[in-house]
Amino acid sequence: MRNLTADELREEYLKFFESKGHVRISGASVIPENDPTVLFTTAGMHPLVPYLMGEMPHPAGTRLTDVQKCVRTGDIDEVGDAAHLTFFEMLGNWSLNDYFKKEAISWSFEFLTKHLGFSPEQLNVTVFRGEGKEGEDGYIPADEEAVEIWKSVGIPEERIFRLPREDNWWGPAGTTGPCGPDTEMFIDTGKAKCGDGCRPGCHCGKYIEIWNDVFMQYNKNEEGRFVPLGRHNVDTGMGVERTVCMLSGAPTVYDTEIFAPIMAAIEELAAASGGEPPSVSDEERLRAKRIVADHMRTATFILCDPKGGVKPGNIGANYVLRRLIRRAVRYARMLGIGPGFTVKLAEVICEKYRHVYPELGVNLAQCRLDLEAEEKRFNATLDKGEAMYLKVAEQLKAHGQSQISGKTAFKLYDTFGFPFEMTCEMAAKDGLTVDKEGFEEANRKHQELSRTTSAGSFKAGLQDNSAVVTRMHTATHLLHAALHRVLGPTANQKGSNITAERLRFDFTWPEKMTDAQIAEVERLVNGWIQEGIPVTKKLTTVEEAKAEGAMALFGAKYGDQVSLYSIGDVSKEICCGPHVENTSELGSFKIQKEQSSSAGVRRIKAVIGNLS
Ligand code: ALA
Repeated sequence: MRNLTADELREEYLKFFESKGHVRISGASVIPENDPTVLFTTAGMHPLVPYLMGEMPHPAGTRLTDVQKCVRTGDIDEVGDAAHLTFFEMLGNWSLNDYFKKEAISWSFEFLTKHLGFSPEQLNVTVFRGEGKEGEDGYIPADEEAVEIWKSVGIPEERIFRLPREDNWWGPAGTTGPCGPDTEMFIDTGKAKCGDGCRPGCHCGKYIEIWNDVFMQYNKNEEGRFVPLGRHNVDTGMGVERTVCMLSGAPTVYDTEIFAPIMAAIEELAAASGGEPPSVSDEERLRAKRIVADHMRTATFILCDPKGGVKPGNIGANYVLRRLIRRAVRYARMLGIGPGFTVKLAEVICEKYRHVYPELGVNLAQCRLDLEAEEKRFNATLDKGEAMYLKVAEQLKAHGQSQISGKTAFKLYDTFGFPFEMTCEMAAKDGLTVDKEGFEEANRKHQELSRTTSAGSFKAGLQDNSAVVTRMHTATHLLHAALHRVLGPTANQKGSNITAERLRFDFTWPEKMTDAQIAEVERLVNGWIQEGIPVTKKLTTVEEAKAEGAMALFGAKYGDQVSLYSIGDVSKEICCGPHVENTSELGSFKIQKEQSSSAGVRRIKAVIGNLS
């Protein structure tokens, strides 16, 4: 294997594909242009969707190659292991209805073995195994063509794995657009299998995925069906960090030259912090260092992005950024690293990358200001939370008790923004226990409003998430009211689901809404937001609420007393809350999708925030 640096790998990859007739194009901003379906560019395909769909020819031709900065936070909880990152660089070669599987797979094999020097024996591949039955609805054949091509270049049957759609299908998650079966390439690290079922795709660390060739033959339509795209595109993605890691034989991506200066700076900061290092195990310290390194790298790239505009905040991309910075602060504290570290790490990161991404030089000054402000804000929250915790602990001890109740832990979290994990850490140090189940119970009750708030988002331990959800919840009431006005009283709520990223609302309606109806609903909701209408709550009985004309969910069971939420004279609904105090807190409202949910039921997905 050739021990290449990231700089060398990028260049060699682009040159290799240039030698195969590709034109080098620049990667796009990490903040998507004109694509409301994603908060960040998560793959090289995003900026190329119109060309992949065949809506227009790409000015550079039908064979392209590039490096794309990507942000993916779906696996944030796995960051700290050997290979998961929230930011990575993706190398891509593209066929826009030009070459297809044979060339794509042969070139991948050639680049990996002849160029990078991986031995063919290290290579394991996965292919799509197909689904459904021939002749029946929803049938998609297995990709035996890819299997045959892999065999023809010398990969034996036992290193070709046929996997289902969860593993071997690529397309924009949860949305419409070009997609298709893929074939993924894994390097066998030589580690022992973790069990009989260990195979490429297993997360134990034996097999590391470094490249994915997607064969875009389908379009996922509004109904969620895969229909032939009428074109054969190739979309590939090779991960720079993972490939450099595998080439160098480093045990994890954090042990590569890419992360070396960042990890060294974290070590130095931890060493310079003086005092007694907090009592965390070596394993926890290592994980904390990696999380700090990963999150700060991602935050720095977002803050320095040439498109700009994403600042730490409570909604959408801004919230993701805030969460990354705050998580980094929390883990840095665990390492004994004090205030001011975010700026120092951003400087190291910019120094490492500015020759490749000039924006990391140009925008560093602004990035420093943003980081400094956010770190200060969060440290203040943590200090206040810590003080509250100490009071609680003192009182418990004074009463001879040793457990912090779930309710108290939840109050620290919900009212003071103090992450639950920190309550647990501090309690452990003080010889106290925390009623985790009680905390979860309190959290669950709090979320009953939506029964829906994504559990994943709450793991961040930030208060802000519930604030976003609350706003979305109020937006749902406005949406419901607007649908009644535009479509009539039969457009009734059938279901609702809210995450920090979007709201989803199902309602009875027999047909697709027209563009004009959608626009009118948006106009009404945004009008109410701009009016700044107060939201009020009163306790009453179901009968009285209904007599006032309140909407109630059909078939729902309510207790003797119910909360009636009113938004001026726009909306009255029986509901558990919580809601914002004034509609102006929603910013703005946009419907992203209107689609069928089931027979006679339509589904709207919408977002709120400062939309362009
Ligand atoms: N779009 C493909 C991926 O992200 C290459 O894996």
